[in-house]
Formats: sequence, structure tokens, C-alpha cells
Amino acid sequence: MEIRFSTAAGGDVVAVMASEGGQLLPAAQALDAASGGRIAKAMKAIRFTGGLGMAIDVLAPEGIDFARVLVIGVGKSESADGLTIERWAGHAIRRTQTSGAEKLVLQPDGLPGVSKAEVGAHAAMGARLAAYRFDPYRTKLKPEQVPSLTSVEIAMEAPATARARAEKDAAIVDGVFFARDLVNEPANVLFPASFAERLRDLETLGVQVEVLDPETMAKLGMGALLGVAQGSANPGRLVTMSWNGARAKTGRPLALVGKGVTFDTGGISIKAAAGMEDMKGDMGGAAAVAGTIKALAQRKAKANVVGVVALVENMPGANAQRPGDIVTTMSGQTIEVLNTDAEGRLILADAIWYAQDKFNPSAVIDLATLTGAIIVSLGHEYAGLFSNDEDLAQGLITAGQTEGEPVWRLPLGAGYDKMIDTPNADMKNITGKTAAGSITAAQFIKRFVKDGVPWAHIDIAGTATKPGPYEDPLSPSWATGYGVRLLNRLVANKFEE
Ligand code: BES
Ligand code: MN
Ligand code: ZN
Repeated sequence: MEIRFSTAAGGDVVAVMASEGGQLLPAAQALDAASGGRIAKAMKAIRFTGGLGMAIDVLAPEGIDFARVLVIGVGKSESADGLTIERWAGHAIRRTQTSGAEKLVLQPDGLPGVSKAEVGAHAAMGARLAAYRFDPYRTKLKPEQVPSLTSVEIAMEAPATARARAEKDAAIVDGVFFARDLVNEPANVLFPASFAERLRDLETLGVQVEVLDPETMAKLGMGALLGVAQGSANPGRLVTMSWNGARAKTGRPLALVGKGVTFDTGGISIKAAAGMEDMKGDMGGAAAVAGTIKALAQRKAKANVVGVVALVENMPGANAQRPGDIVTTMSGQTIEVLNTDAEGRLILADAIWYAQDKFNPSAVIDLATLTGAIIVSLGHEYAGLFSNDEDLAQGLITAGQTEGEPVWRLPLGAGYDKMIDTPNADMKNITGKTAAGSITAAQFIKRFVKDGVPWAHIDIAGTATKPGPYEDPLSPSWATGYGVRLLNRLVANKFEE
């Protein structure tokens, strides 16, 4: 789907704005006048409120060159921001992508808090994100299921600034789509080795990619990661992706670490059958890290960022680790594995240690679909944030608000840390109780962060994927790509020259 900017445009469908209270904004008013008041009349007929995403559809209006006019609400115009415009454009795409229309014209208006150039760029961003599809395995799409829309034209005066910004934003969308594709892929296609191969492709963008195999990881002493991997016929991998875009290529990088469990059966502590298919998405952290590196490389971000992803399949094979096994991590600390389904923290223990050991990062952020408990706490609206650093935490909170990928901070503390002590080893990988499951998981990870290193852990079990019917206008599939926009914004705000 092609996106263009122009001052005047024609096409099959035109989308315009209305605000709360059913107030037509200027572009909609002009169409209403041209049609002799048909839009205002249609509005009354359906009790149109102008709420965000609510629409009036006027077909074949007289006096207008479009076959269809879509008036879509933006809600209260005083509180509208860039994300509101993105969602508005997203709704327009959803209502037209498979409608038979080939060309959609967006006529966004400037709003109190958003300049015209910003409006245009956000409209492009929203249109792109909403057009995502994951169809590679659908060989029998009916004609009416195949997208008809091939071009979106954003009509605005002086489009140059918006066009330039939208071109940059396309890199971010690419990163989001990369993450969504990885999460949507089934686990028979995407396993550690094939995942690593896909990451190799980032080399074409100037990213240095290194893939560690099990032998190398054994030499490094990654007993926790390898303990999880050993139950599967698909051996594990650890992949590092370095983007050195800063002027000082050797400056300390930001390290992003991702949980990449390509399928989580639970291992010997096996999960229940119902819904287990969702565990193909247990690599959402790794996907977010890979998507972020792709976005940064593609937009040539002036920052040094390294992505480290631990890729394993958690299976109950004949060689699987058993409850009660004690493994030794690369850090030297030992772990009593009391539940093989608490595997994410095990692989992150070694990946986070390796990231610090190898890259001496200025900060570490890990992302993981780590606990079902975070879904109990926050549902699918916020990711859980844990951090030992006020500045980093605030940076993530702000970035999340801007990008519509919000995080909610939860506490850490000695009382929670104590809960993972065990007489048999340095720590155990579960607590005896179901209390504070996301926090004790975070405390576990914290034991692998070196003193003085600013660190944040983001539990994305509820946000990397969302249950149907996929009504979020910017995220039309099960996989959301959550984390790419968040991290890209954080880098832009805090780590870029
Ligand atoms: N991958 C799961 C967490 C998860 C649950 C992600 C639901 C996405 C949706 C993780 O490996 C896991 O199994 N966690 C256990 C931990 C428990 C054994 C301490 C959980 O949350 O039940
Ligand atoms: Mn698990
Ligand atoms: Zn898992």
C-alpha cells in the first residue's frame, strides 16, 4: 500500500473528521456544503456522537467526486494528540482495506494540540500500522478478503514537512511489522535456528549479527539457558545484533535483551492443553528487540544499541531438565529449577550476564513475556515495568505515553527478593506461593544485573499479543509488535546524539 501526500486529490473514498458532540471539522464541513447537507442529515440518522472511531458512511453523495464519504470521529478535539490522529487514520483503513475501493483520500484537519505537518505524518503512521496483515498461510482467501486498497493519499497544504517525517516513520513501522511477523509465525516454522537466520538478514542494514551455538554457550558457562534448551530437538541460539550509529562507534551501548522462547510447553512442568497454542508467542521480547534494532538501523539512529536475544524451545523431551535440577549460570550463581515452566528468567539470567560481560553497556533493558501474573495485574493495557533507576524508569513511562505503548511501574524490594532464597542453591526459580508472581520474577532477574548498572525489566506477557477480535485500530492482528515504538522513542529521547 502506497502512501502519498498532495494538496488536492481524488479517489474512491474520502475520510474526514468530526469531533465529540457531532461537530464536523472543516474538511467535513466543506463536503457537507458541496453535497447540500447530506452529511449532517446522515449524522442525525445514526445518533453520531463523534467519539473516536465512530463513523458515518455516506454513499454516492450528489455533488461530491467520491463514491463514499467516511466521517470518522476523533473524540474531544481539545484532548486530541498525535495518537488520536493515528487511530483516526487507522479506523479509515479498517473500513476500506477490503471494501473494493482502491484509493483512499485522507483529509485530516489541524487540531488544537497538533500542527498540520504533525497531523499529516501521524495520519501516515496510523494508516501504515492499520494495514498490517499476516496472510502467508492463507492460500484460499475469498476475493472479498483480499485487500483492494492500493494507495492512500493524504491531502494537505504544504505537505513537504509531513512527507519527510513520514518517510522516517516508515522505518519504525518496518520494525513493528518485523516484530509482529515473528510473533505470528508458528513454532514449526520459527524455532531458534530459523529465528537466528531471520536476524542475520539485518546485516544488509549495517547491523553486526553474531550467532552463538550451544557449544559456544557451554564454553561460556550458560548452564541456565542450556538447561532450558536441552529438552528440545531444536537446539538453542543466542544472537547479538549491534547497531553502532553514534559518532563514537565504541561508546558504551544501550543493551536490549529479549526472551525468545519459540514455544513454551512448560517442559516437564507441562502446561494445560487449553490455549497452549498461544505459547508460540513466547518470544515477543526477542521480537521487540529485533524490531527495534531494525527500526534504528533503518532510520540510521545516532546511537549505539545492542540487542541480545536468547532463543530456545521449552520442551519435555527425554533429555529435558527435571524439577529439582540445579544449574550453574554464566555469572557463577546457582539456581534450583523447581518449576521448568518458569524458564524465561533462566534464559534471561545468562543472556543479561552475557550482555554486560561482552558489551559493558551504559544501561540494560530486558523485555519478556515473563508471567501470567502480569496479565492478572494489568490485563492487556499496560506492560509491567520494574527498574533500579528513576531516570530510566521515567524515560520509559514518558516514551510509552507518547507512543501508545504504556508501561506501569511496580515495586521491587528486599522482602520480595527473600522469597526466592532456597537452602539448596543460591536461588530458586519459583516461590512457594502465588503471591506477587511478576515481582518475584523481576527480583530473580535483578540478581543478574551488576551493581551500578541502570536496568529496567518490562513484562510484556499481556501486551505482546492481544486476544481477538483485534479492534485496536493500530494493531489488527494477534501480535501487536509492542515494544518497538516504546524503545525506539526511548532511544530517540535519551540515548541519541
Ligand atoms: N511464558 C509464560 C508466561 C506467559 C503466560 C506469557 C501467559 C504469555 C501469556 C512463562 O514462561 C510461564 O510459564 N510463567 C509461569 C511462571 C510460574 C511457573 C512461576 C506462569 O506465569 O504461570
Ligand atoms: Mn513458561
Ligand atoms: Zn515462557
